[in-house]
Amino acid sequence: MCGIFGVINDQTNEAAQTVLSGLKKLEYRGYDSWGIALKATDSNDIKIDKHIGKIGSAATSLPRGSIAIGHTRWATHGGVTDANAHPHLDCSHHIAVIHNGIVENYQELQSKLKTQKHVFVSETDTEIIAHLIEEESKTKPFFKATLHTFKKLVGSNAIAVLNGKTGEVVVCRNGSPLVIGVAKNAIYIASDATAFLDKTNTAYFMEDDEVIDIKKNDDVSLYSISTEKEKKLVVRKIDWKAEAAEKAGYAHFMLKEVNEQAKTIPNALTHKDKTIAQVAQRIKVGYKPILIGCGSASYCGLAAQYLFAQAGVEAINFGAYEFEPFSPLVSEKSLVFAISQSGETADTILAVKQAKKNGAKIVAIINAQGSTLERLADYCLPVGAGPEIAVVSTKAFTAQLGIFFALTGELSKINPAPFIHDFPLWLKNKKTSETILNLAKQLLKTEHIYLIGKHINYPSALEFALKLKETSYMHAESFASGELKHGVISLIQPGTPCIALTAHDAVQKEVISSAIELKSRGAYIIGVGPENNKAFDCFIETPDNGASFSIFYNVAVGQLLGYYLGIGRGADPDKPRNLAKSVTVK
Ligand code: G6P
Repeated sequence: MCGIFGVINDQTNEAAQTVLSGLKKLEYRGYDSWGIALKATDSNDIKIDKHIGKIGSAATSLPRGSIAIGHTRWATHGGVTDANAHPHLDCSHHIAVIHNGIVENYQELQSKLKTQKHVFVSETDTEIIAHLIEEESKTKPFFKATLHTFKKLVGSNAIAVLNGKTGEVVVCRNGSPLVIGVAKNAIYIASDATAFLDKTNTAYFMEDDEVIDIKKNDDVSLYSISTEKEKKLVVRKIDWKAEAAEKAGYAHFMLKEVNEQAKTIPNALTHKDKTIAQVAQRIKVGYKPILIGCGSASYCGLAAQYLFAQAGVEAINFGAYEFEPFSPLVSEKSLVFAISQSGETADTILAVKQAKKNGAKIVAIINAQGSTLERLADYCLPVGAGPEIAVVSTKAFTAQLGIFFALTGELSKINPAPFIHDFPLWLKNKKTSETILNLAKQLLKTEHIYLIGKHINYPSALEFALKLKETSYMHAESFASGELKHGVISLIQPGTPCIALTAHDAVQKEVISSAIELKSRGAYIIGVGPENNKAFDCFIETPDNGASFSIFYNVAVGQLLGYYLGIGRGADPDKPRNLAKSVTVK
């Protein structure tokens, strides 16, 4: 949700170009508009270049200079216009601000600034920050003026501010992510470390209530915002490789990431470390799992609920955004599993903070490194899928689920070996992709599609439908097959495509019987699973590795079908409209 990138002391003296290429790596965070503010060499002026639309293959003609900050926007306050694109300037044009978050009290701050004769040129909440700093700077040096301004902002926010006169950059964090990359002779700032991995893997992940003053690349100081006391800045190494965040010859990140599951799922399934054993032990002694997440992570939680049930453990799952009414049920005997690719999703963080207040222990099931949720957790189970760049989650979802298999396997002893053998072969098999591609061609003009599944393949169906919606903008809706006769079947008309997700399990016949009921109302039935059936008008075969593992196959079919449908319908599967990868605001 908005991407921030900056460089101080760019080694090529082409800071604008460096920022442009950093922003391109952060485009998944928002693609309504982009912009750069540069301190040009030998000038006190800030040069701005900003445009609406995706940064894609955009170029900038900003002049040379070694200090610049830039932004990719996911619009919240103010429409998608050039004027609303960041950076925003104060009246004197000496202060440029970029921002990720929402200033909840911006209207009252703006009213006061207007009485002080500040002139606003955008409809954003961000612009007030530049004018407030200008106002505070009348009595304080730039760093203090920025710090005191930030203290006045209500909400989850991260900002980077450039002083055009001095080249000083101040960054503040409260609720939205910011990472500092420390290279030999340069400093980078970013919303996500993958954006500067090609320059350095030495990073400082800022905490909430922290501000960093970057006067020069070798003059960088960290302070607490609330106490204003200096703190020690301790960097850490990131073990991701820059190439992992590149497309590696694939047309889209999404396709690359789907294919990477041949390795990432087996890795997660065989994840064995002492944390898994410690978490399993907590469950054995009676801690109750509560599973929370948003989007795909929430469907992972639902699937995990079935896995826990199989292992004889009662767990509850709900979207993190629905946590509040359930919060009184969370106690010091609860084990809250915060599931998140980014570790920065606002609703998940808020729920975790509340659960901690209630005394619960937190287990973070996270893909990104150095995230807020990782820091809030008592136990962290990294899912190890590597950078996931496509907005649509694929390999992070299945790796999170793999970790739950590893954990519940500790409790129930499921054997993943046959799946680990078969899945990569199936995924790489040309026949798999050809069959799914042909189905996509057949469904290109479809506007409504329904899915049914039962037990663990109910969450499979939900995740499958989410992939179709996100990538192809098709209306896809999933039902537990048992729900069908309770109203849903009235949606079926002659020719309506319906996908039945099956496994070789105790409920296979029930799902097929539901598919037959749909067919008798005229539906076109697409069966997915290990066995064909005469009720299926079209069939996608998956290996039979037992009921539990069928979720990985069924979801992967949804990922590939979504990808091909998205392409066929002219969408960009890496950057679907209106979405952002990391939702850092409520
Ligand atoms: C956004 C993304 C989804 C993701 C969800 C949760 O909506 O578009 O793909 O599942 O956020 O994100 P998280 O980083 O917490 O897994």
